[in-house]
Formats: sequence, structure tokens, C-alpha cells
Amino acid sequence: GVDTFLRVTPSMLRRHNKREDAWAVFNGKVYNITPYLSYHPGGERELMRVAGRDGSKLFALTHAWVNLDYMLDGCMVGFLTAEPSS
Ligand code: HEM
Repeated sequence: GVDTFLRVTPSMLRRHNKREDAWAVFNGKVYNITPYLSYHPGGERELMRVAGRDGSKLFALTHAWVNLDYMLDGCMVGFLTAEPSS
């Protein structure tokens, strides 16, 4: 449920940039994209461009009509949040 989702900062996100451990943000939500890489119709390389990053803009440019929420439902990790101020 919602209570098990993480709050992910940009610095946490950036560490998940490897093929076997790839996270990406789309519209404020953080997804583990690793399980989907080999299924992406646009190829692994394209999808890996957004690993460890916010992919919202690239996603909107390439296929805004795709229902990402539905497709990656089981892969959601949490929500992007600001770095804690120090
Ligand atoms: C194609 C899903 C992220 C680039 C597709 C298609 C789907 C899909 C369903 C087929 C669309 C169609 O034929 O109408 C996803 C999902 C993503 C994602 C669920 C997020 C996890 C991205 C990103 C990029 C990208 C970030 C660019 C960096 C492409 C390209 C195609 C494509 C170029 C067209 C491939 C072709 O028709 O030859 N994607 N995509 N995708 N995707 Fe993605």
C-alpha cells in the first residue's frame, strides 16, 4: 500500500543508474525500471537514458499517450522529494 512507498531524494535517485539497478522518475513518481527494460518497445538503450534521472520530459516527448502508471504499477518505488535542508 501507499504506506510502504519511499520518499526518494534526487541524490538517492542518481545512485540507481545501472542496468541491474535502474530507477527513474516520471511525473513525481519513482519507478524501478529494471524489470521493464527488456520489454520496452523503444529498446533498452533509450530507456536507460533516464536511469537515475527524471524522465518526465523525454517520456512526454516520445509517447505522452502511453499509460505509464498502469504499465509500471507493480514497479513503483515511491515519490520524489526534495533533499533535506542542512
Ligand atoms: C516506444 C513504453 C520510456 C523512447 C514505446 C512504446 C511503449 C513504451 C508502450 C510503444 C508505443 C507505441 O508504439 O505507441 C515506455 C514506458 C516507459 C518508456 C512504460 C517508462 C518506463 C521511454 C523513454 C524514452 C522512450 C524515457 C526516451 C528516452 C521510446 C521510443 C519509442 C518508444 C523512441 C518508439 C519505438 C519505435 O516505435 O520504434 N515505449 N517507454 N521510452 N519509447 Fe518508450
